[in-house]
Amino acid sequence: MEKQGLQVAIDGPASAGKSTVAKIVAQRFHYIYCDTGAMYRAITWKVLQAGVALTDETAVKALLDQITIRFEPGTPVQKVFVDDTEVTLAIRQPDVTNSVSAVSALPAVRSELTERQRQIAEAGGIVMDGRDIGSTVLPHAEVKIFLVASVDERAQRRLKDNAAKGITTPLATLKHEIEERDRKDSTRKVSPLTQAADAIRLDTTSMSIEQVADKIAEIIKEKESH
Ligand code: DC
Repeated sequence: MEKQGLQVAIDGPASAGKSTVAKIVAQRFHYIYCDTGAMYRAITWKVLQAGVALTDETAVKALLDQITIRFEPGTPVQKVFVDDTEVTLAIRQPDVTNSVSAVSALPAVRSELTERQRQIAEAGGIVMDGRDIGSTVLPHAEVKIFLVASVDERAQRRLKDNAAKGITTPLATLKHEIEERDRKDSTRKVSPLTQAADAIRLDTTSMSIEQVADKIAEIIKEKESH
């Protein structure tokens, strides 16, 4: 298949600003945006709905094989569907957030979603954000960014995001949840959160979203011109 643009991988821990920045960058270059965290959240939502145990790998994989996970354009956020059910808001609720690390640690889930993500990215012209995009899903991506920010800053950002969605979890709880998720995502056996050797690390703690987007756009333009 002829490639219609670059593959841009944006990885980093929870609430580092990946999805906001990835969306802006995708819009600027008319690239497709793919939020892989939403795919892990979607299967987790389905597992909770079905009452399947989070650690029952065979049952979870069987569920995943039965469902399609789709994105549709929407503002301010892309819409997410599991089959014909819209789950855009449901997958951001605390029950899914607190269960997604367990589901995303299952090797069978990772290999299936990795395969789906590679198909989505195949034609290029894509900004994909997640934890293992540069290291595992798209090891040949032309642009790899690893975004980090302090835990305090990330908890503040999530507090703001949540307020817009009507979720009222206190700051201290958010901080604790972020630390827990970092720990689980970084220590799982299969493709843990790691910076690819050839990724560019950006600490966004004292940067605005626009500054981060500008910096990544600069890196993409530089690559495009080669
Ligand atoms: O980015 P997020 O918070 O929506 O991601 C939800 C969870 O999915 C996160 O705790 C780790 C997991 N995840 C993953 O394991 N691999 C990815 N490529 C993306 C997300």
